[in-house]
Amino acid sequence: MGKRTISFGVIGCGLMGKEFASAAARWLHLDDVDFEPRIVAVCDANPAAAEWFKRQVPSVERTYSDYKELLADDSVEAIYCAVPHNLHAQLYVDIIESGKHLLGEKPFGIDAEANARINDALEANPGVIVRCSSEFPFYPGAHQIIQWVNEGKFGRIIEVEAGFWHSSDLDPTKPINWKRRIATNGEYGCMGDLGMHVLHLPMRFGWKPNSVRALLSKIVSERPDGKGGMVPCETWDNAILACDVKTADQQFPMVLSTKRIAPGHANTWFIRIQGTDMSAEFSTKNPKQVSSLPYTPGKQQAWHTVDAPYKSAYATITGGIFEFGFSDSILQMWAAFCDELAHGADGMTQPFRCATPEEASGSHRVFTAALESERTGATAAIEWRD
Ligand SMILES: NC(=O)c1ccc[n+]([C@@H]2O[C@H](COP(=O)([O-])OP(=O)(O)OC[C@H]3O[C@@H](n4cnc5c(N)ncnc54)[C@H](O)[C@@H]3O)[C@@H](O)[C@H]2O)c1
Repeated sequence: MGKRTISFGVIGCGLMGKEFASAAARWLHLDDVDFEPRIVAVCDANPAAAEWFKRQVPSVERTYSDYKELLADDSVEAIYCAVPHNLHAQLYVDIIESGKHLLGEKPFGIDAEANARINDALEANPGVIVRCSSEFPFYPGAHQIIQWVNEGKFGRIIEVEAGFWHSSDLDPTKPINWKRRIATNGEYGCMGDLGMHVLHLPMRFGWKPNSVRALLSKIVSERPDGKGGMVPCETWDNAILACDVKTADQQFPMVLSTKRIAPGHANTWFIRIQGTDMSAEFSTKNPKQVSSLPYTPGKQQAWHTVDAPYKSAYATITGGIFEFGFSDSILQMWAAFCDELAHGADGMTQPFRCATPEEASGSHRVFTAALESERTGATAAIEWRD
């Protein structure tokens, strides 16, 4: 089968830039897709970071330290941009205006104003395909839950809980980095860092909160600066958001949590839905398993936990009995983005698209209202104008 090759440039050669390179290098894992990414150019403000790509990624022909030079490179069709949050607005706007397609990292702007700038650029350049990185819904267990929601299996929804919990910041000796400073990570703190992952599925399902009461915590107040001193650790460590969701035909509570200090949790993303006809839950803590509790009035209430087969959006060479992991979810997300670039939204091989700019904007509304709730101590309303 002839494959459509999509030439990519990567801006930001850190942790996530490398994850993309690894996914692109493992493209043969996907069975029977007629498109593939090829990373031809990379850019990092720190030339040492781009060195890794020069050494490890044979397709890379050019490296830049100024992203504008990469945007002027005609051989580059699409960009993956994974830089600190304070740079999202300027870089994403410039990328969109250059006419190149973009998979941008969350949170899509350091705050609501930055996110609005990105949306304005999108409106002025409707021809570019822009999506937001969010990989967890591609886990087989999450995919199963998406299918159940789409099939209306839950009946009347009683309650939803979704979260993303980390724990490495429990260690007070961990040095400060850009993710713990307001100037680079933003006022949202852990919500900006982790929250788009949590809100992706609720937004996709149309579960928009019309109000939020937030409890935000700062637990570690200072950290080593890596030079022998201590500096303030400014951002929110943990956030619990109690939301009231109102859809066309339902109203239910939804508790969202993003935590950098959740003892015992390395990278735990989860969603739990309770409904009158069925309840279900999936957590990356037990990445093979998905649990469900179908209910018939008057009958037994019994949880069923199964090892979900290795089956996500795109078929792979891996046997159904093997385990799925984080890097598999990244590969699947990249397949969805490249599929949309190759075939358009309506021609995709399967229907689950990457997170959209509208979904990212929805997450900004929730985080902005959460900050207001924290300031006032009251429940904050959220307007959904569009
Ligand atoms: N999807 C996920 O699971 C996930 C996980 C971690 C981080 N992220 C997101 O990815 C983005 C980057 O995070 P990271 O963990 O890769 O950070 P990182 O610090 O590892 O890498 C960021 C890179 O950007 C480079 N950079 C800074 N300014 C630049 C500029 N002006 N031009 C070009 N390069 C520049 C830095 O030198 C660094 O190499 C953030 O938006 C973050 O929220 C997503």
